[in-house]
Amino acid sequence: MKTIGMITDRVRWDEKALIQAANKKNAKLVVIDGKSIFLEATGDFDNIPEADIYLQRLVSTFKGLYVTKILESKGYPVVNSYAVSSVCADKLLTTLALRKAGVPSPRTFVAFDIDSALSTLEELKYPAVIKPVFGSWGRLIAPLMDPQSAKAILESRESMGALYQIYYIQEFVEKTGNRDIRSFVIGDKVVTAIYRIAGQGEWRTNTALGGRAEVCPVTPEIEDISLKAAQAIGNGVYGVDLLETPKGMFVNEVNHTMEYHTTVPLTGVDIPSMLIDYCLEIAK
Ligand SMILES: Nc1ncnc2c1ncn2[C@@H]1O[C@H](COP(=O)(O)OP(=O)(O)O)[C@@H](O)[C@H]1O
Ligand SMILES: [Mg+2]
Repeated sequence: MKTIGMITDRVRWDEKALIQAANKKNAKLVVIDGKSIFLEATGDFDNIPEADIYLQRLVSTFKGLYVTKILESKGYPVVNSYAVSSVCADKLLTTLALRKAGVPSPRTFVAFDIDSALSTLEELKYPAVIKPVFGSWGRLIAPLMDPQSAKAILESRESMGALYQIYYIQEFVEKTGNRDIRSFVIGDKVVTAIYRIAGQGEWRTNTALGGRAEVCPVTPEIEDISLKAAQAIGNGVYGVDLLETPKGMFVNEVNHTMEYHTTVPLTGVDIPSMLIDYCLEIAK
C-alpha cells in the first residue's frame, strides 16, 4: 500500500477532510507537522517520515516551495510539484505561462520604479489594479483610481520588502454581478466550480475577505479555459480564478495549494477524496 505524507503546519477543515477521505478509502496517510521537520540539504539526515508521495499543504508559500524542492531533489514525488508550485506562487510567472499558452488573462504590465509604473498607467488607463507578485487572500491588492492615489500607493510599497517594489499592474476588469469564478482542476478534469461574490463594499471576491460562494455549473467554456490554464502550467491540482468579461473569460490566477472548505459543503463534490486518488495515482 502506498503511503501519502501530508505536510502541514495547521490542520484546518481542508486537511481534516483529507484525513477523513484517506480513512474512508483505507489509504495510508501520515500527517507530518511542517514545524517539526528538518531536512539535510547536503545528505540524507532528514527527520521526515518516509512516504511514497508527499502532499504539500503548508500555509506558508515559501516554506512549501522549499520543502517541495528538497524532497523532489531526493527523488520523492510531491503534489504539487516544484515546477508547478513555483509558477503558481508567482503571479508574474503565471501571467507569462498563460501568455505563452495563449490563455486570455487581464492585460498586465510590470515596472520596477514609481515613475515608470505611473507611465504604465497612462497606457493601461485608470482604474487599474496593483498586486504583490507573491501573496494570497487578496492581501495588498489595491485599486489604482487616479495618478494621485496611484503614486501614494506605489510610494507606500517603498517601505515594504524588495518584492513589493516589483510593480505588477493590470487592467481593472469590471465583474458581472461583482462576482468571479473559482474552478477546481485535478489532473485533467475540472471537478467543480463556484461563483465567488464580493462582500459588502468589497470588489475582491476572496472568501477570506467576506466573499460569498454559490454553485456555478461547469460550462464548456469554464471547462475549456480551466484546463488550458492548468496545461499551461503542468500536471497538478489547481484552484483557477476566472473573470467573466464582455470579451470572454479571463484567467486571473492559478492557485496551487487550493482551499475547498467552502466549496465541498456547497457543491457536495468530494474534492478531498479526489485529491487522495490523484496522489495515489502519481505515487504509482
Ligand atoms: N484585474 C482585476 N480586475 C478586477 N478584479 C480583480 C483583478 N485582479 C484581482 N481582482 C479581484 O481581487 C481578488 C484577489 O486577486 P487575486 O489576483 O486572485 O489575488 P490573491 O492571490 O490574493 O487571491 C480576485 O479574486 C478578484 O475578485
Ligand atoms: Mg485569488
